[in-house]
Amino acid sequence: MKVLVAYFSQTGKTKSVAEAIFESIDGEKELKKLDEVDSLEGYDLSFIGFPIIAFGPAKEGKEFLEQKAAGKKVALFITHAAPEDQEGVEAWLDKCREAASSAELVGFFHCQGELSEAIANALLKSDNPMMRSFGERRSETIGQPDETRLQRAREFAREVMDKL
Ligand SMILES: Cc1cc2nc3c(=O)[nH]c(=O)nc-3n(C[C@H](O)[C@H](O)[C@H](O)COP(=O)(O)O)c2cc1C
Repeated sequence: MKVLVAYFSQTGKTKSVAEAIFESIDGEKELKKLDEVDSLEGYDLSFIGFPIIAFGPAKEGKEFLEQKAAGKKVALFITHAAPEDQEGVEAWLDKCREAASSAELVGFFHCQGELSEAIANALLKSDNPMMRSFGERRSETIGQPDETRLQRAREFAREVMDKL
């Protein structure tokens, strides 16, 4: 069984989840940035990760899934600055699942990831009040994903692997 873990990550948060998933997989495996992956051919399972950007999947993740994941076994992992149980998060995650609708979705994980200082400052200048309110809540996100969340990511990877 050959497993790919591929991610898009602007500030390293989704990358840290990718690394946690990668380290908990036994056997033949590869860890790559999403833009280094031409095709999912040859992989029996692909963990694909990216952040939520503006209330939906990062464009890079969405387009990758729409163009390259059809018919493939895929497990998604997503990070976002909002707490996992915040109202509205499920709708953003549904858009991620929708982007993977042509794939065979065998697992789904999401967790909070720190909003970087540079991005929070940019969001504070946005015309969109929701974006500004994200910027104001940076302090609540600092240090995420923490060890508890990374441990959940490792368990998620093992569960997906055990299922297949
Ligand atoms: C332009 C922009 C828009 C974002 N929009 C959202 C959002 O709508 N909801 C949210 O929870 N987080 C949002 N975030 C925060 C990121 O999803 C979060 O910080 C993520 O963990 C970053 O992952 P990365 O370090 O792998 O890029 C946004 C970040 C950026 C840069």
